[in-house]
Amino acid sequence: MKKIVILASGNGTNAQSIMDRFVDSNSIQVSLILSNKPQAYVLERARLAGIPAMSFNRYAFAKAGQIQSILNQEQPDLIVLAGFLWKIPSFLIEDHPDKIINIHPALLPNYGGKGMYGMNVHRSVIENKEKESGITIHYVNENYDEGAIIKQASCTIDQHDTAEDLAGKIHNLEQQHFAATIEELLK
Ligand code: GAR
Repeated sequence: MKKIVILASGNGTNAQSIMDRFVDSNSIQVSLILSNKPQAYVLERARLAGIPAMSFNRYAFAKAGQIQSILNQEQPDLIVLAGFLWKIPSFLIEDHPDKIINIHPALLPNYGGKGMYGMNVHRSVIENKEKESGITIHYVNENYDEGAIIKQASCTIDQHDTAEDLAGKIHNLEQQHFAATIEELLK
């Protein structure tokens, strides 16, 4: 059985679509969900799905902390950042080479980097009157949003689209592509 560990900070709609895709799989499972926010709704989603989950603080995330040892014990085939807003420290990248992926709600290398998450991204894209945006699924390296790109998918932006409209379009792309791409990677 291949194992996915999900790290998420918020609502967890992406985590949910990954859980849903593999719920009946006999070759891939979401084995653990970790969040840096104790109140994040993603933890409730995990509870409802019967998937082990826990929250952690900066201390547990630091080198030789609890999260490093949990991940080393778990030996996941893939670590998926699904709306996870902390930078991944280099020791975790070294522990899990080519096994950490992220989804970003824009067409990288545009609209990436520190502070570029969620609605901040969509507001900037709309302010700049872009004609398209999209999603990027990529490997994680030491720099925010700079690892090798695995997949991108785009959507058009209509003249009167608001940041909220764009967020809806991006959400649809994420639902369509993220879990499917994960399945491809684990085949
Ligand atoms: C998603 O849109 C994801 O692409 C974005 O956060 C949202 C999380 O939503 N990630 C980033 O902005 C990373 N820089 P969710 O909690 O409902 O899955």
